[in-house]
Amino acid sequence: MLFRNVISILLIFGTPSLVLGCGFPPDLWCSSPEISEKCGVEKQCSLWHSKQALTDVPLVRYELYYESLCPGCKQLILTQLYPAWLKVQSIVNVTLVPYGNAQENKYGGKWNFTCQHGPAECVGNLVETCILSILPFDKAFPFIHCLETYNPSTDGKYCASLYNLLSYWPSIEECSTGPNGNSLEHDMAVKTNALNPPHQYVPWVVLNGVHNEEIQSQAESDSLALICNAYQGVKPAGCTKTGFIRSPVKKIL
Ligand SMILES: *[C@@H]1O[C@H](CO)[C@@H](O)[C@H](O)[C@H]1NC(C)=O
Ligand SMILES: *[C@@H]1O[C@H](CO)[C@@H](O)[C@H](O)[C@H]1NC(C)=O
Repeated sequence: MLFRNVISILLIFGTPSLVLGCGFPPDLWCSSPEISEKCGVEKQCSLWHSKQALTDVPLVRYELYYESLCPGCKQLILTQLYPAWLKVQSIVNVTLVPYGNAQENKYGGKWNFTCQHGPAECVGNLVETCILSILPFDKAFPFIHCLETYNPSTDGKYCASLYNLLSYWPSIEECSTGPNGNSLEHDMAVKTNALNPPHQYVPWVVLNGVHNEEIQSQAESDSLALICNAYQGVKPAGCTKTGFIRSPVKKIL
């Protein structure tokens, strides 16, 4: 890894003439200031070290509290969050919490959920919750995007087939109709009920642990700018529009 990075930097910035005779293999060139000096690659190594430092910049945390059939949630996912995530997933950690305004009570050792848009919404929440628990997020989010585009309560298998995830469908279905999904959905309820301040509507966006009206309204109008402006590191290409840095939107954080 180190070797490849050093080589790619040398390819970009040109190989200094001294390098070949410095007596150290390339994977050690950036291992100490003395060696980089000896090998004539100090500049390249300092660049490489600063690039490494970038990876320590914390990801922007974008939490979405929503429910599967709410039109505003669907709109936020389809027109804002998902397209933004596709562009800048390297700088954002998205957490989806499909529960929203649902309610739960325990009955016979099981949670009984009541959902704002009826039982179908509860099914959709369960399916999405199980997808999030079974698949890595980079597979789960496209799947959920598909469900939100079609019908979260009925199109699971169809969406699985579109994304080549049919082999996961039986376990997702089993989860969503069984005790595992019931308990995972309860976790979503607990997470939602722990919000401070408590959510008053859905979709409800929490950015880096904070919910306020400015964050919410920018999430709904330009989630990409919201994420890019909140990121403390060097902005990735996905933050630019047609090759130019987007004009700074009002700074929130
Ligand atoms: C994203 O956030 C979750 C929950 O806060 C955390 O467990 C996970 O490690 C984070 N992922 C990354 C890549 O930072
Ligand atoms: C579950 O909740 C629904 C809606 O409130 C209610 O009609 C149903 O009787 C409840 N079922 C159980 C087993 O408590």
